[in-house]
Amino acid sequence: MLESIENEIPHVHFKDVTFSYPGKKENLIFKCNFSITKPGFWMVVGKNGSGKSTLLKLINGIIKPKYGIINSKANIGMVFQNPDHQILMPNCRSELLININQNISDYEINKKIEYVLYQVGLTGFEKRPIHTLSGGQKQRLTIACALISNSNFILLDEPTALLDQPSQLKVLNTIKNLTNDNKKSLSALWITHRYEELIYADSVAELKNGFLSSWQEPSKFRYN
Ligand SMILES: Nc1ncnc2c1ncn2[C@@H]1O[C@H](COP(=O)(O)OP(=O)(O)O)[C@@H](O)[C@H]1O
Ligand SMILES: [Mg+2]
Repeated sequence: MLESIENEIPHVHFKDVTFSYPGKKENLIFKCNFSITKPGFWMVVGKNGSGKSTLLKLINGIIKPKYGIINSKANIGMVFQNPDHQILMPNCRSELLININQNISDYEINKKIEYVLYQVGLTGFEKRPIHTLSGGQKQRLTIACALISNSNFILLDEPTALLDQPSQLKVLNTIKNLTNDNKKSLSALWITHRYEELIYADSVAELKNGFLSSWQEPSKFRYN
C-alpha cells in the first residue's frame, strides 16, 4: 500500500468546498475550488485569521467540509509553526525512528535515517539532542520525519514564522530542492503570511474572504 502510493503523483481537488466552525454563522471557506495535481512547491498566502490553517485541516481530513467535495490521494505529512509542539523524542535518530511506519531491517533503517538527514542538510546529526538544535534545524528535522514516513505531500503551516532570516532561507531552500527533484513525486503546500517568501514557489494563490485565487507564477502574482 505504502509502496504503491509512494510511486504515484499526489493530488488534491477541492470542489465548491464551504466550511464554518460550529456555532459560527459566516462561512470561513466559501465555495473554494482548486487542484494540486503536479509535484512542486505550492504556496498559499493570506492574512492572519484568513483561514489558512483551516484550509490545511480540511486537506488532511482533521475537519470535514459543510458543503462540497474534497478528493485527495496523497500520503500527507505535516510541519507546524512551532517544532517544539511536534517533536516528541530526545534526539534526532529517535525522532526519525518513531516516524518510520514500515517493517524494515536495522540496516535499511540506518540507511533511511542517513538519507533523509542528508536530504534536509543535517548529515551527521543522528545523535544530536533536540535541545541543541536551532529552530531552523528543528524544522528541517520535522521535514525529514515527513520524508522518512514516506509522505509525498507535505503541508507546512507557517513553518518559518518563528525563525530568524538565515534559518528561514535554509528551510525554504530545503523544500525548494526537494520539490524540484524530478526523480521524486513530492508536493509541498506552504502556508505563509510573508509575501517575500512567494518567489521560492512554483505556484502561488491567495486566500482572502474565504476564496482561494487561481494559481499563478510568483512573478505574475498580484495580491489584492
Ligand atoms: N477550532 C476553532 N473553533 C472556532 N473558530 C476557530 C477555530 N479555529 C480557528 N477558528 C477561527 O477561524 C478563523 C480562521 O482561523 P485560521 O484558519 O487559524 O486562520 P489563519 O491560519 O489564516 O490565521 C479565525 O477567526 C479563528 O479564530
Ligand atoms: Mg494559521
